Amino acid sequence: MSESSLIGRVRAKLNEVKSAGLWKSERLLTAPQAGHTRARGDAEVSGSSRQANTDRPILNLCANNYLGLADDARLVEAATQAMRSHGYGLASVRFICGTQDIHRQLEHRLAGFLGFDDAILYGSCFDANGGLFETLLDEADAVVSDQLNHASIIDGIRLCKAARFRFVHNDMPDLEKQLKAAREGGAKSILISTDGVFSMDGTIAQLGRIVELADRFDAMVHFDDCHATGFLGASGRGTHEHAGLMDRCKDRLVTTGTLGKAVGGASGGYTAGAGEIVELLRQRSRPYLFSNSLAPAVVGGSLAALDAIERGEDLRARLWENTAMWRGLLEAGGFELIPGSHPIVPVMFGDERRAKAFSEALWEEGVLAVAFAFPVVPKGRARIRTQMSAGLTGGDLERAAGAFVRVKRAVG
Ligand SMILES: Cc1ncc(COP(=O)(O)O)c(C=O)c1O
Repeated sequence: MSESSLIGRVRAKLNEVKSAGLWKSERLLTAPQAGHTRARGDAEVSGSSRQANTDRPILNLCANNYLGLADDARLVEAATQAMRSHGYGLASVRFICGTQDIHRQLEHRLAGFLGFDDAILYGSCFDANGGLFETLLDEADAVVSDQLNHASIIDGIRLCKAARFRFVHNDMPDLEKQLKAAREGGAKSILISTDGVFSMDGTIAQLGRIVELADRFDAMVHFDDCHATGFLGASGRGTHEHAGLMDRCKDRLVTTGTLGKAVGGASGGYTAGAGEIVELLRQRSRPYLFSNSLAPAVVGGSLAALDAIERGEDLRARLWENTAMWRGLLEAGGFELIPGSHPIVPVMFGDERRAKAFSEALWEEGVLAVAFAFPVVPKGRARIRTQMSAGLTGGDLERAAGAFVRVKRAVG
């Protein structure tokens, strides 16, 4: 096989990733996703690593399982019931014969909870973002996007023909400058797009100031609330509730989100917005029109997750208490954190190899906390992204902090 053949070039690329210390391997969990789960010894799915057969308890500090619902018995029961009453799968896209009563029920529940007219389900939030921009905007329009937006927003924007403007992350004067440029360039409609919460840093977008600018420039605002729905804001509605914008859902806001994080953690995504926007997405959005319907079990489980979230329970309180405690423990241990209040708590290392070695040593201590390096985060900004969950206890956090401190002493 010559070096210029496709397979030869693929091999070279894999070697490049490995030698740069950027290889991502996957831990094998052998039990449900939870604060306490089990994983196989040193097993890795990708690459050529050994597959060890032993499995052991692991304290999990890096799932998006913010409310600890991923193994909740009520959700498992609701998913089982939905499978009994509505079957295993739909074998159809929604508009052919893939819409069951429970799909519409979930869409209405999501819209009502989030404060929008209507909602539309997708196979994932990646798909919801992928099918948003191309459907709403054409070449006469403009999209103004935060430079650190999630990959799915970036890809969604790539698919649409609107003029593209990018503003410096979380920088309102720059957003204003880009909006001016879009207006002066003759854009008919302008859509601003931002993550509600930025997944690598835990930064909460300044949605109030973004909406003020949108009012001035007559723009619409899209926010991706994957890392907020269910727990941010007094009743867990998300970044718009946190920012006091629940009354702007009818005119200025459209949101995308996931069922794969706080809202149960299975999979699936949605867009919620004004009735006409959701209707146009139903008619035109390609990932909706050309992809299978959500499985009944996921729909049933997600409805039960919304029940748990709407009841409020003490899950949110526990999550925020854990977050404050965890940040305090790490700061007392001398770790550098990205300042903030969100349950995403990134521990900064800078150097890729050091972050990875630290994560490996934590694993030996029975703590799962994965290192993130370029290209997921900027070069030289490697980190271990820890994430808090209502499924962890104060004792768990003390134990995990002890492991961080011991590894720091050992690894440096
Ligand atoms: C900000 C953001 N948007 C979108 C997604 C994609 O969500 P899903 O897993 O539902 O495709 C993620 C998940 O990583 C995310 O963090």
